Amino acid sequence: MSGDLVVRNARLLDGRLVDLLAQDGRWTRIGESLAADGAHELEADGRLVTAPLVDCHLHLDASLTAGTPRWNESGTLIEGINVWGELKPSLTEQDVFDRAHEIVRWSVAQGTMFIRAHADVSGENEAMVRGLLRLRDEVADLCTIQVTAFPQDGIFAREGDDERLENALRLGVDCVGGIPHYEPTSELGLKEVHRVFELAKQYGRRVDVHCDETDDPNSRFLEVMADDTVKYGLGGRVTASHCTAMGSYEPYYSSKLHGFLKRAGINVVVNPFANSLIQGRLDVYPKRRGFAQLKELLAAGVNVSLGNDVIMDPWYSLGRADMVEAASLALHFTYMSGRDEIVEMLRCATERGAKTLAVEDEYGIEEGKPADLVVFDAPSAIEVMRLHPARRWVIRRGRVVAETTPATTTLLGEPVTFAPPL
Ligand code: FE2
Repeated sequence: MSGDLVVRNARLLDGRLVDLLAQDGRWTRIGESLAADGAHELEADGRLVTAPLVDCHLHLDASLTAGTPRWNESGTLIEGINVWGELKPSLTEQDVFDRAHEIVRWSVAQGTMFIRAHADVSGENEAMVRGLLRLRDEVADLCTIQVTAFPQDGIFAREGDDERLENALRLGVDCVGGIPHYEPTSELGLKEVHRVFELAKQYGRRVDVHCDETDDPNSRFLEVMADDTVKYGLGGRVTASHCTAMGSYEPYYSSKLHGFLKRAGINVVVNPFANSLIQGRLDVYPKRRGFAQLKELLAAGVNVSLGNDVIMDPWYSLGRADMVEAASLALHFTYMSGRDEIVEMLRCATERGAKTLAVEDEYGIEEGKPADLVVFDAPSAIEVMRLHPARRWVIRRGRVVAETTPATTTLLGEPVTFAPPL
């Protein structure tokens, strides 16, 4: 059999060692010792391969603006929103496109080929949503992007923002977003959740709401999202992002909520960089961790995945768009340190992310599916999470689109491999 590309001796997450043959952009054969005349060959040599990393939550419109017009000195969510509010009237579609495009380049180079982006649609400037929609369409061959219309300032605090959210749907966004805990009152927060679901139903879009991104244990809009998901019949198409108040819920309410979320089929997205640095800021010691209950949600059968959220922007001046680093940070903050749990955390950054984005039909290492692949310079998921290794090759639709030569280290002239002695 001939093909365009064959990857030899690739280690799958389930431990099998296989060859993978791609033709016309799709996997055509996966098995042992495949004949592949004329195909370009890559020797994976037992390295771990996975389907693409998935970044389920990224504010691409704000990326690479850190320090403009000023730094967020307090590090709080509110100062970040204020700095961003000062900057965004001056942004242009081209500026948004260029910065976001650069982050997509960083992402794909490290194996992330699916991104759910958030475009701020609060206020009169449409540059953020127009810039990201153009990016989505222009980079589709390299990276699958879904754009969420995100009303950073809420939809009821300022005249016209409700209409602007709907207008973003007319412009063609993939998901409708919200931020109910940021509305002026709880009643308006409830009204916002219902409005988001009405719009999703009316326009046939997915839902991705910033929900309960606070340390306030009384912020409980997630249960309303679960209820609306069932009422509107949108199971599997709804995501609640951040949900950090869950880190302050007491056990009885938490267990009730887990059941609601499982029944509704809601996806939860944890954003380790922002959650670890922004939550708990106002606490005196002991300080809360401010994470959604990732480990307990997985145990309850709720799908959980991960996002970078913030990269060199008003909320976070660091970041390099690496989902392995995000997964590693989440692992530590959510106590996912068991051997199987470490592997599961890599699934949160890959397969579970694909489920959140509802792209499973076009995702996965299976014959007939698009030939997208990440070849890690490590032999197992645990070593990936320990070492954060180079992505040796990144393959999109059967074509090698990124390649990294791993660094080598010597000590007194002898190699240091960071592996235990044999
Ligand atoms: Fe966010």
